[in-house]
Formats: sequence, C-alpha cells, structure tokens
Amino acid sequence: MVDTGKFIDTAIQEIKTAAGNDKVVMALSGGVDSSVCAALAARAIGDRLIPIYIDTGLMRKGETDRVRTLFGNIHLQVVDAADEFFSCLKGITDPEAKRKAIGERFIRVFEREAKKQGAKCLLQGTIYPDRIESEGGIKSHHNVGGMPLLMEFSRLIEPIRDLYKDEVREVAGALGLPTEIQHRMPFPGPGLAVRVLGEVTPEKVAVVRQANWIVEDELVEQYHPWQCFAALIGLGTGVKGDNRIHGWIVAIRAVNSRDGMTADPLDIPFSELTRIGSRITADIPRVARVVYDITAKPPATIEYE
Ligand code: XMP
Repeated sequence: MVDTGKFIDTAIQEIKTAAGNDKVVMALSGGVDSSVCAALAARAIGDRLIPIYIDTGLMRKGETDRVRTLFGNIHLQVVDAADEFFSCLKGITDPEAKRKAIGERFIRVFEREAKKQGAKCLLQGTIYPDRIESEGGIKSHHNVGGMPLLMEFSRLIEPIRDLYKDEVREVAGALGLPTEIQHRMPFPGPGLAVRVLGEVTPEKVAVVRQANWIVEDELVEQYHPWQCFAALIGLGTGVKGDNRIHGWIVAIRAVNSRDGMTADPLDIPFSELTRIGSRITADIPRVARVVYDITAKPPATIEYE
C-alpha cells in the first residue's frame, strides 16, 4: 500500500518539474486512472493542463455526458469521433486487427486535437499492470502509449506508473475525487468493441451498450464486483412473441480481482441471474438468449477479445 499523502506530493512535484512552463495534454476517459492523473496535474499546473475526451462511439451509455459534467470545471475538450471509429472498423473481424484499428484511430484523433492545443508534454495514466501486460505482449493497445505517436512531444509524464489499481483508488480518495470515480470499474480503452465478437457495427454496439447498462444497474451496487459487463457473443435462435428469431446472444460477465491479472467469477444466485436475463431479453427486442460466464482468468481473459 502507498502512503497516499506522500505519493500525491511527489507526483505533483514531478508533474511541475516535467511540465516546466509548457502546456500538457492528456486523454481523459473518466476512468479512475486518467481522473487521478487529471486531478494531480490540475493541482500541479492548473490551466496549463488540457484534458481531451474522445467519444469513440464505443463508450458506455451516458458516459460522455457524465464526463462532461464531472470535469466541467477544468478545460475539458470533448471530441465526437464516433463516425470516424465506425468507418475504420468496417469489415474488420480479427480481434487483434480491431484493437489495432481502434488504437491507431485513437492516436490519430488525439494527435490532431493535441496539435491544435500546441502542447509539448503528454501526460498518461499508465499503471503498473498496464506496463507488465504490455511488455509481455498480452495487450496490443492499453492506452495512448500502446501505439507510436507521430507527433513529437518533448516529455512524457506518467505519474501513476508504479501503482496497482487499488492503490490508484486510494489516491483518488485522498484527492477528494467523487466516490463514483474512485470506485469506477475498469473499462477497456477499445471500449465496447472488445465486448462484441466479430465486426463492430453501430447496431451491435447499441445492443451491447443497453445490455451492459442493465448488468451494471443490477450488479454494481448490490455485489460490488471488481468488474461486470455484458458482451455480445453471437447469434442464436429464439422465440419472441409468435415469431422465431435469429437474435443476439448476450453473455453476462462479473468477476472479482485485485489487479485484473487473475479473476474469479462472481457467485450470483441463480434466481438473480434468471431475473437479469429476463430483463435483458424483455428490454432489447433483438436479444434471444442470455448466458452467464463461469470462467476464471486464467484460462479466460476478462474481456471477450
Ligand atoms: P483481460 O481481458 O486481458 O483484461 O483479462 C484485464 C483488465 O484489463 C482491461 N482491458 C483493457 N484495458 N485496453 C485497456 O485499457 C485494452 O485493450 C484492454 N483489454 C482489457 C479489462 O477490462 C480488465 O479490467
């Protein structure tokens, strides 16, 4: 565990020194990692921090508005890039190619926006497990650091690079960030795209977004899982009303973990699961079937792609 007070002082000093008199840009997703970095940097350099939120169209329901509200007091730049992301994902079915396409697009959009700001420094919310998994080649895109930036930044600042997720949460608490951010579940950089098997289309993303919202609504407050979500894992036959349909199969994933490197499925009462399944099929016409994922990590990963 970290000494949060000491950590915060050191991180603020580090950011001040690295930034000098320059502007600093960062990609702010609204997750705990980037939010902690933004809060530290805002304390260190005030208005010279320029956080950029990129709406990839692959975010959770209500996410963009939430981030806009939460960070309305700092100079947040919100960029709507959904169309760009969907067009670059057209026809791509391979999971790695999807991740690469999203990572690549993210970097290009970020660069374009950062250039407009004339910033020399880049701040990133990389945490310790990100570095380990990236170095081991497990992830091809974790955040902005996963792909080469064409743009030249004179300095890269990674104030939480040595922290585990639970330590980042402690720091969030010590910084006085809202508990909603402090306890926010991890959400992958490529967003809902890694929760849709095969090609990513606006229709599939809309279905998984709604199913995901229901899963979070049902499980987060009651079970406090480390992470829970819905994924779209294929098509199957079902009967809705008087019709047979070929509809989506939604998987519910809920796990406990310390740092995402290993995870155990949550023990949710069967009656609860069937009730959540009924809510999803009733609410989303094109969903024919709901399953619960009982696999630990390893051998399964937490996300589906
Ligand atoms: P996996 O699926 O590898 O996930 O067991 C472990 C943790 O990492 C998150 N995750 C990602 N985060 N970019 C991210 O920023 C990614 O590409 C990515 N893939 C997985 C996942 O949500 C879980 O918390």
